[in-house]
Amino acid sequence: MHHKPVLLRETIGLLGLRPGVVAVDATLGSGGHATAILERIGPAGRLIGLDQDPDAIERCTKRFGADARVTLIRSNFRKIDEVLEELKVPAVDAILMDIGMSSDQLEDGKRGFSFQKEGDLDMRMDPDAGNKASHYVMTLPEKELARIIYEYGEERNSRRFAAAIVRERYRNPVDTTSRLCEVIESSLPGRDRFAKAKRPQRNRRNPATRVFQALRILVNDEFGALRDGMDGAVKRLAPRGRLGVISFHSLEDRIVKEKFRELAAKNIAEIVTRKPVVANRSEIIDNPRARSAKLRVIEVKP
Ligand SMILES: C[S@@+](CC[C@H](N)C(=O)[O-])C[C@H]1O[C@@H](n2cnc3c(N)ncnc32)[C@H](O)[C@@H]1O
Repeated sequence: MHHKPVLLRETIGLLGLRPGVVAVDATLGSGGHATAILERIGPAGRLIGLDQDPDAIERCTKRFGADARVTLIRSNFRKIDEVLEELKVPAVDAILMDIGMSSDQLEDGKRGFSFQKEGDLDMRMDPDAGNKASHYVMTLPEKELARIIYEYGEERNSRRFAAAIVRERYRNPVDTTSRLCEVIESSLPGRDRFAKAKRPQRNRRNPATRVFQALRILVNDEFGALRDGMDGAVKRLAPRGRLGVISFHSLEDRIVKEKFRELAAKNIAEIVTRKPVVANRSEIIDNPRARSAKLRVIEVKP
């Protein structure tokens, strides 16, 4: 089963897409949003699709490879400016960034994104760039590990988890998803343990959730890429062109909100969504991932 695109109707509506425009989907994933963009821009439109994950590019090549309106590029969206330069596309009318990971990445155990799947502790969205999560888990000093887990994971047990990782990594490498979960779980007092709870409270999170989030953000430099990506996108948008960003947790949403405010204060762009657009009840029931999705849109001033 493919990734279900979130806030699809809202995103397509707010991006101001019309027949014949040039659009960029900077986070193709499985091409859910891209399909809807193509419907809107019609036969005279053009879609440039980016993803840093080769699996996403492969899926989208199968889906859109035969469509002459589509150009697919494997790249980090932080290089969007250079990519469009190389393609000799001076300006585009709409850019979408639906950040974070796709269900396809999460479901693929060997990528190491999910604490529910056994796999190598990798977490790189681009398997050819940078270090695996296990590198950081095995080498970072305890204080640094605690800071990352606290800042990127907003995890109040960050010091406890960092101490347990450092203690355990000398005994046996912490280089798989299950081993990291085991180390985290075993560092909690008995009553807090998730696996052992007779009746886990409803909605209780696995204690590894936030540690996995923190490591994923670190491994992929997600906040740096987001900031650079938004700067590059705004540089390439035509007057009245729109940028839409869908984020999935408060730290990302704050970065988007601040960047949009900065662009509005500099008179470069106008904020289209005063408040972030969120999913309605029926979408959340159909796709629980949509629960935390927030869409913000800006329009570049003429
Ligand atoms: C939430 S999914 C997008 C789903 C897509 N909108 C769809 O409808 O199928 C996020 C995708 O963005 C990609 N991605 C995340 N950060 C990226 C970055 N900095 N540069 C390029 N692609 C990125 C991931 O590899 C993943 O495939």
